[in-house]
Amino acid sequence: MSVFGTLIVLAFLALAHLTNAERVLGAYVFQRHGDRTAKSWPPTNLTNLGYNQEYMTGTFFHDRYISSNSSFQIDGISTEKVNLKQVTASAPQDDVIENSGEGFLQGLYPPIGSAAAETLRNGSTIDSPMNGYQLIPMSDVQSGSGSEDNSWLQSTSSCNKAELSSDNYYSSSSYEDLLSSTKSLYQSLSPLINGTFNSTELSYENAYTIWDLIHVALIHNSTSTFPSSDLLTDQTVQELLVLANEHEYNLAYNSSDTIRAVAGMTLAGEVLAALNETITSGGKSKLNIQFGAYAPFLSYFGLAGLTSVNANFTGVPDYASSMAWELVTNDTSTGIPSTSDISVRFLFHNGSAIDGSEQLQAYPLFGQSTLELPWAQFVDKSNEFSITSQEQWCSSCGNTTGICSSTSDNTGSGSSSGSSGSSTGSGMSLGVAGVIGAMVTLGVLVGLFVLSMLIFGLRFVPKSALARAKRGSDASITPIVKENAA
Ligand SMILES: *[C@@H]1O[C@H](CO)[C@@H](O)[C@H](O)[C@H]1NC(C)=O
Ligand SMILES: *[C@@H]1O[C@H](CO)[C@@H](O)[C@H](O)[C@H]1NC(C)=O
Ligand SMILES: *[C@@H]1O[C@H](CO)[C@@H](O)[C@H](O)[C@H]1NC(C)=O
Ligand SMILES: *[C@@H]1O[C@H](CO)[C@@H](O)[C@H](O)[C@H]1NC(C)=O
Ligand SMILES: *[C@@H]1O[C@H](CO)[C@@H](O)[C@H](O)[C@H]1NC(C)=O
Ligand SMILES: *[C@@H]1O[C@H](CO)[C@@H](O)[C@H](O)[C@H]1NC(C)=O
Ligand SMILES: *[C@@H]1O[C@H](CO)[C@@H](O)[C@H](O)[C@H]1NC(C)=O
Ligand SMILES: *[C@@H]1O[C@H](CO)[C@@H](O)[C@H](O)[C@H]1NC(C)=O
Ligand SMILES: *[C@@H]1O[C@H](CO)[C@@H](O)[C@H](O)[C@H]1NC(C)=O
Ligand SMILES: *[C@@H]1O[C@H](CO)[C@@H](O)[C@H](O)[C@H]1NC(C)=O
Ligand SMILES: *[C@@H]1O[C@H](CO)[C@@H](O)[C@H](O)[C@H]1NC(C)=O
Ligand SMILES: *[C@@H]1O[C@H](CO)[C@@H](O)[C@H](O)[C@H]1NC(C)=O
Repeated sequence: MSVFGTLIVLAFLALAHLTNAERVLGAYVFQRHGDRTAKSWPPTNLTNLGYNQEYMTGTFFHDRYISSNSSFQIDGISTEKVNLKQVTASAPQDDVIENSGEGFLQGLYPPIGSAAAETLRNGSTIDSPMNGYQLIPMSDVQSGSGSEDNSWLQSTSSCNKAELSSDNYYSSSSYEDLLSSTKSLYQSLSPLINGTFNSTELSYENAYTIWDLIHVALIHNSTSTFPSSDLLTDQTVQELLVLANEHEYNLAYNSSDTIRAVAGMTLAGEVLAALNETITSGGKSKLNIQFGAYAPFLSYFGLAGLTSVNANFTGVPDYASSMAWELVTNDTSTGIPSTSDISVRFLFHNGSAIDGSEQLQAYPLFGQSTLELPWAQFVDKSNEFSITSQEQWCSSCGNTTGICSSTSDNTGSGSSSGSSGSSTGSGMSLGVAGVIGAMVTLGVLVGLFVLSMLIFGLRFVPKSALARAKRGSDASITPIVKENAA
């Protein structure tokens, strides 16, 4: 072969190498809880089925992001023993969601057996319990507390304008139309669920909780524990699902009134801050996983234009569904390249890793045609709707009391409620500011500051919303974020 020919072959090889050279620099995963008992009978519990779904999905993400032989392994991530600087997990205070998170994390970083053993000064070897089980702490996402016991979508968002906006759906003509056109369908369910819903409650107003009760019974109840279930045809089940989806989507997103999607706006801000930190920390922080309910999925789907890509995005995602934002590059050097060489890819999987054969699939965000968006473009587009600070959350929500009082009265040192302590003029609690100070001293990079801007001490979301409840849904809208991410 001539020298020229050899060069061409080499060039092709180099090209082929480049094509395979993509590196994943970091990722943010938002994970729905697994199979649970019905909302109509609180307290809800994660079932064994749900635990397995989460564990298997965590295992799937281990095989994608952690395993050394994966082509999507996150660059430089610890492969056997978890490095807590690299991995961050968070969840709202909710038994179903937190237990789901634990199940997932067990799969993400499985036990390492004797590799976890430590030797003491006196020569004794100490094994870690449960065959080298690895502990991964979960920080609090302050809102969405108790969401699985709460059927009213917006109430745990704690966002005034979002609650008003969702309420408006109940006076819209499309709601009224469905309420009357589906009346007989819902009334016909009486023999099946009259122990839980009386005839006034059997209507489209409770589309989600009715669907939820039936869905749970269809998974868990034998015919003898689900009397009259023979009355349910496949077609009726499908109709009830479609109606529940319509109901929930309309509560979670409205194109002419975007604050309704506050759950997705806040999540977008969290994703931005976390991926930004991966970049600015030079890759110290690599993988963020947030556990939650379906509201942030639906809100984000609407905001990010995914519902125009595929109308199925207007449907409530199945238990243990995952969405992920991956920070990717084709740059072949090591470490974090220049941001102009970094892109973001969005992926979604409907249901747990054991449901169905298809795995995470990439979808284009913001009505773009490419699956990988350049970092700067991802930031610009996300910022069209993301909420990235407590001040912005307070003003978008029209909240002026509680944790928002300092941002509205602007006294600079006014106190806010509960343990969040007094606030600075920037709306950040002094406790948080102290943490930031300590971190800066420790030499943590600027990116963390941004993350910290998101932190506030929202303490307590009452479960009172149960009273308003049967209308709605799976709550867990997440106003600003981790109480103490440090
Ligand atoms: C959930 O578990 C609690 C006990 O932990 C139990 O009291 C409750 O009835 C369970 N809920 C359902 C719906 O089974
Ligand atoms: C990847 O490595 C794991 C063990 O770490 C092994 O079980 C699995 O089969 C490997 N997968 C491939 C595709 O080689
Ligand atoms: C070594 O120290 C540990 C912890 O104090 C103790 O449990 C163990 O019995 C000691 N072993 C020996 C051989 O002294
Ligand atoms: C925002 O305002 C609503 C309605 O007044 C209230 O229910 C909610 O608790 C407030 N949220 C916060 C975080 O103060
Ligand atoms: C937005 O909400 C309002 C009131 O809830 C409703 O009238 C309108 O039809 C909704 N828009 C869309 C596009 O659903
Ligand atoms: C519910 O419906 C079943 C079947 O129609 C009936 O036997 C039962 O008495 C009803 N229960 C109540 C509380 O109405
Ligand atoms: C149905 O239940 C609701 C709430 O439990 C109650 O307010 C209403 O009066 C009941 N309606 C009938 C017809 O029993
Ligand atoms: C399903 O079974 C449980 C008891 O195992 C029962 O309490 C519940 O009412 C049943 N669900 C329906 C919809 O009948
Ligand atoms: C991270 O966020 C900060 C504050 O918004 C910004 O100044 C910086 O440019 C961002 N870094 C990247 C890599 O986007
Ligand atoms: C929506 O989902 C259904 C059922 O999973 C599937 O048959 C259909 O092809 C999907 N629609 C699109 C546009 O992908
Ligand atoms: C996920 O599956 C459910 C049915 O189980 C469906 O209603 C929903 O539209 C699906 N979502 C997507 C994005 O395919
Ligand atoms: C990397 O290169 C491949 C092949 O040219 C391309 O399909 C992919 O979009 C690129 N990825 C990024 C992050 O630019």
